[in-house]
Amino acid sequence: MNEIECASENLRAGGVVAFPTETVYGLGADARNEDAVRRVFAIKGRPTNHPLIVHLAGISQAGEWAAEITETAHLLMQRFWPGPLTLVLPARIDVPRAVTGGQDSVALRAPDHPVALALLRAFGGGLAAPSANRFGAVSPTEARHVRAALGDSVDQVLDGGPCSYGLESTIVSLLDGCPQILRPGALPLAALRDALGEDGIELPDQIARAPRVPGALAAHYAPATPLEVHSIETLATRAEVLLAQGLRVAVLRRNRDLRGTPTLPLLPQFLLPAEPEAYARGLYARLHELDHLAFDRLLVEATPIDEAWWAVNDRLARAFRGSCPDGGPRGRN
Ligand code: TXA
Ligand code: MG
Repeated sequence: MNEIECASENLRAGGVVAFPTETVYGLGADARNEDAVRRVFAIKGRPTNHPLIVHLAGISQAGEWAAEITETAHLLMQRFWPGPLTLVLPARIDVPRAVTGGQDSVALRAPDHPVALALLRAFGGGLAAPSANRFGAVSPTEARHVRAALGDSVDQVLDGGPCSYGLESTIVSLLDGCPQILRPGALPLAALRDALGEDGIELPDQIARAPRVPGALAAHYAPATPLEVHSIETLATRAEVLLAQGLRVAVLRRNRDLRGTPTLPLLPQFLLPAEPEAYARGLYARLHELDHLAFDRLLVEATPIDEAWWAVNDRLARAFRGSCPDGGPRGRN
């Protein structure tokens, strides 16, 4: 039996299998098996009212989960599946409410990764899969991140190499009226506008108005190393303050020419590419790597306030918020 067949057998027996997607690694279980789905929540330590995405092999399976597939839903599936777009649709009554967190809607997506698609085809049904990290931690973009976080609690980890996007899918709700973005992600806003027209897609209020205010975001997560986001102008001053407190500080910044900006104190600097897609691809892996180095604080250079950076800015803001729950920086404990 090859690895995919073995994983598919595991899933049929109610097991939990981590698998690669083009965005991040997922923690999959048979979406029709409530016990298996409950195990996913338990392994992640995730509250059971947080709904999971059902992963499908393709459009032809969507009708098994969604009560209605509107013309817009069909258009988006045709255009972007398989790919990093999750659609929230009214759920059929036979969709286990363990998957939807008790809601009457269901989130669906067809991942664009050869291993995920082979697994979904071999298994034949839908796989409920959140990102394969513990609740509140950074999503995994490599199989070793999954093993390090979840270890033996999962039945199998399929290794498909590093994820090509490195950031979670874009989530669009088609529940009422105009399609609405619930989570910016790997599929750029420009692609959705291109498919639906300039006014065909609605942005969440708080993001449309203030892309960076961490407090405005409901959910957040944090790397083990508390992280702060600062403009390159204020970063040097902040670093001096933290260094004076005796903290071990590292800087994560974009790989670009810093001439004309304040000189940073002598401290370890880590780089990510200057372009948004490449930055997104490397961000989580960098955060995982930096956690191993156990700095007291990571100072991240703020990325541009620009639509192309929306998803990255959203994740950085959530991580900042997760690191400083009271609005102010805190220590490791
Ligand atoms: O790229 C991704 O989307 C990855 C890979 C593994 O596919 N998955 C992922 O899953 O990020 P997770 O569980 O970490 O995030 C799923 C998001 C949650 O924010 C959840 O609230 C939202 O999807 N969601 C799921 N079902 C929903 C629903 N019925 N209504 C609104 N939001 C929903
Ligand atoms: Mg997640």
